[in-house]
Amino acid sequence: MIKSLESLRGNGSPLIEAVHAREVLDSRGNPTVAVTVATSSGAVEEAMVPSGVSTGANEAVELRDGDERRYGGKGVRKAIEAVNEILGPAIEGFEVTDQRTIDAKLIKLDGSANKSNLGANAISGVSIAVARAAAASVSLPLFRYLGGPGAATLPVPMMNVINGGKHAEGALAFQECLIVPVGAPNEAEAIRYGSEVFHAMGRILHERGLQTLVGDEGGYAPPLDSPQAALDLIVAAIERAGYRPGGDVAIALDPAANNFYRDGKYFPLSRDRSASVDDMIALYTDLCDRYPIISLEDGLDESDWSGWQKLTEALGKRIQLVGDDIFVTNVEFLQRAIAEGVANAILIKVNQIGTLSETLDCMTMAQQAGYGTVISHRSGETEDTTIADLAVATGARQMKTGSLSRSERTSKYNRLMAIEDQLGAAARYPGAKLYHMPSTGRS
Ligand code: PGA
Ligand code: ZN
Repeated sequence: MIKSLESLRGNGSPLIEAVHAREVLDSRGNPTVAVTVATSSGAVEEAMVPSGVSTGANEAVELRDGDERRYGGKGVRKAIEAVNEILGPAIEGFEVTDQRTIDAKLIKLDGSANKSNLGANAISGVSIAVARAAAASVSLPLFRYLGGPGAATLPVPMMNVINGGKHAEGALAFQECLIVPVGAPNEAEAIRYGSEVFHAMGRILHERGLQTLVGDEGGYAPPLDSPQAALDLIVAAIERAGYRPGGDVAIALDPAANNFYRDGKYFPLSRDRSASVDDMIALYTDLCDRYPIISLEDGLDESDWSGWQKLTEALGKRIQLVGDDIFVTNVEFLQRAIAEGVANAILIKVNQIGTLSETLDCMTMAQQAGYGTVISHRSGETEDTTIADLAVATGARQMKTGSLSRSERTSKYNRLMAIEDQLGAAARYPGAKLYHMPSTGRS
């Protein structure tokens, strides 16, 4: 008697029956990839791929059509075709829970070092849709499927309430000024603290006659001429909302220094006033002395490894130093960082590297080396909430998903609250325990 395919495969796990991709829009109104995976158990799940603009040079390549007649060249039909004609057919019949074999197949089919043949947008769409379909096939919430019974720690959110840099042209050179509700007792309260501070800031801006429009990640984007002005506003907003700066709500920065680095010099304030690495370190040290800053991401350019080393020596024992553009969720760069004493935490973005398996490997390496991990959205997002589940599943303990406005941002906060609700008494919120807390607020 001929055995069924399922019995030949051994454990009867549901199989991938169909994979289909199509073009959808992200939060900036640009096209992106949506992938649907259907399995033999009847599960049908979709993933939508986000897209950054403040990207690292070594990120996996996002494939765009370059056909100016469609979406100004930003169409993703080539990536869609790669899914529908190559990646999808190649994994049909695979056990949907066999994520590593599937991801290895996707990587092999692309064949390049940086996913430039078929596109990291095509590959990450399939990889994430497979995980979502697998969770649904075995009737588990995604965080539980990926993380197992031990997954119960919610991430401390880093909420980007002042947008600048490439996410808000004409505003501050620093890309992100974030609030971190370290003193909240749980996730839902952390989100409430964040929302109240965000609205307090709106009122303060209004009173001062400053613009209250928001940038790409939903934070306010007033025209400010210095990081100090942004930090003063944040401290005022924290106080106005009735919280203690530092104790209840601390501050994090992502200057995204790549974007103001030219010819070996930094331009953190204006185009005509340059700063050396030592000036930058002095600036950050001064900001840490004066404000309750607990985390600094991409304080220096991605190519400035010696500068990063100095920065880590100067501030690495005092605050969290997060590498985003410099590490691009890639074990090769993280390995070098660990060896050279660069940074003490890493930002994690699935589409920076391309597959879920590679992302998990990178997080494992970071966690084993004692590096902090921050799961992150992109500035161009969708209603997909996978990163919220991923943050809980991996015990990342920190997550960056924008401000407290715009549904592509709040959908992730809403998902975190749903997970916390589902976990009930088992839910944990790490809060201040994660950081070296500044002993004072402003001096
Ligand atoms: P991006 O930026 O999503 O525009 O690349 C986000 C970040 O720098 O953290
Ligand atoms: Zn960043």
